[in-house]
Amino acid sequence: MDTMTEQKQRVLSFVQSSGTPTLGNYLGAFRNWRGMAAENDCIFGVADLHALTVRNTPADLRRRSVELYAWLLALGLDPEKNVIFMQSHVPAHAQLAWVLNCYTAFGEASRMTQFKDKSKQHADNVNVGLFTYPILMAADILLYQADKVPVGDDQKQHLELARDIAVRFNGLYGDVFKVPEPYIGKKGSRITSLTDPEKKMSKSDPNERSFVLLTDDNDRIAKKIKSAVTDSEALVRYDPANKPGVANLMTIYSCCTGKDFDAIEQEFAGHGYGDFKAAVAEAAIAEIEPLRAEYQRIVSDKATLEQCAKNGAEKAAALAFKTLRKVMKKVGFWQV
Ligand code: TYM
Repeated sequence: MDTMTEQKQRVLSFVQSSGTPTLGNYLGAFRNWRGMAAENDCIFGVADLHALTVRNTPADLRRRSVELYAWLLALGLDPEKNVIFMQSHVPAHAQLAWVLNCYTAFGEASRMTQFKDKSKQHADNVNVGLFTYPILMAADILLYQADKVPVGDDQKQHLELARDIAVRFNGLYGDVFKVPEPYIGKKGSRITSLTDPEKKMSKSDPNERSFVLLTDDNDRIAKKIKSAVTDSEALVRYDPANKPGVANLMTIYSCCTGKDFDAIEQEFAGHGYGDFKAAVAEAAIAEIEPLRAEYQRIVSDKATLEQCAKNGAEKAAALAFKTLRKVMKKVGFWQV
C-alpha cells in the first residue's frame, strides 16, 4: 500500500483536572497516548468542564488544570504536531453536549456505573452535571470525528454510550459522526488501589497510601509500594481472582519493565514479597523519575504553557466548529 496516501487515524483522549495524575492514569492511558502520538493525528485535552461535577475551590481547579496541561507536555506529547488543549477553551464542547443531551434517553444515562458510584461518594452534591457527564464526554469525542479513543477500563461504558449516540444520530441525519473505537491497552488498563486491590487506583481516594502520584518523590513511591496489600502465600504468581494485590504489583512491574508474567514468576521464584516489592518500586521509580523532572521544568514556564494552550485551543476550535456547524444544520437551527 502507498503509505504517502494512507490517511492517518485520528486518536483522541482527555484527562479530567480533578487532581494530580496517578500511576494508574499513566499506565492505563498516558503511556498509550505517547505510544500512539507519532503514528497518528492526535488530539489530547484536559477536561476541566468535567471537573466541575464535584465542588472545587476555584484557585485549586485553575492550578490543577495548568498542572495537568504541563503533565501532557512532560509526557513528550508535541504541541506542534498534536493538538493539546483545555476543554473549556473551546465552547463547542458544551454546545454539542446540549444537542446530544436531547438524543440520549434518561434510562441510558441512568445505567452508567460511574454515576452510581460517584453519587454514593458525593451524596451531598449529586448534581445534574454528574448525571450528564458521559454525554459531555460523547461530545468531546464526536466533535473531532475520532477513530480511536485510548482509555483505561473504567471509561469503557462511557465510550459505548458515545458510540450508541453517534449511531442513533447518524441513523436520523446521515453520516454526521465517525463512530469511535475504544483502545484499551492489553496490560495496565485497570491498575488497582494499593490498599484495597478490589478497587481501582484513583486520585480521589481519601487514603493517600492507596495510590502513587506522578509527583511523589522516590522515597514516597517506595514506601507506598512496599506497604501495598498482598496476601499470606508469599508466592509471586499471577492469579488476579485469588491474589489481586500481587497481580496488580506484577502488572505494574510488567508495564514498567516489559517483562511478561511468566518471566516475572521465574525471576521471583523462591523469593519473598520483600524482594519483589523492592523491584517493583525500583521499576516504577525508573519510569516516573524522568517524567517528574521534565514536569517540574515545564510547569514553571507559565509563558510557554499559556502560548501552547492558546495555540491548541485555536486548532481544536477550528476542527470542532466544522462538526458543530454540520450538526446545527442537520437538527434544524436557523443558520445566518
Ligand atoms: P480520568 O481523568 O479519570 O482518567 C484519565 C485516563 O486514565 C485512565 N485511568 C486508569 N487506567 C488504569 N488504571 C487506573 N486505575 C486508572 N485511573 C484512570 C482513565 O480510564 C482515563 O483513560 N471521563 C474521563 C476524561 C474524559 C475523556 C473524554 C476521556 C473526558 N472526556 C473523552 C476520553 C475521551 C476521565 O474522567 O478520565
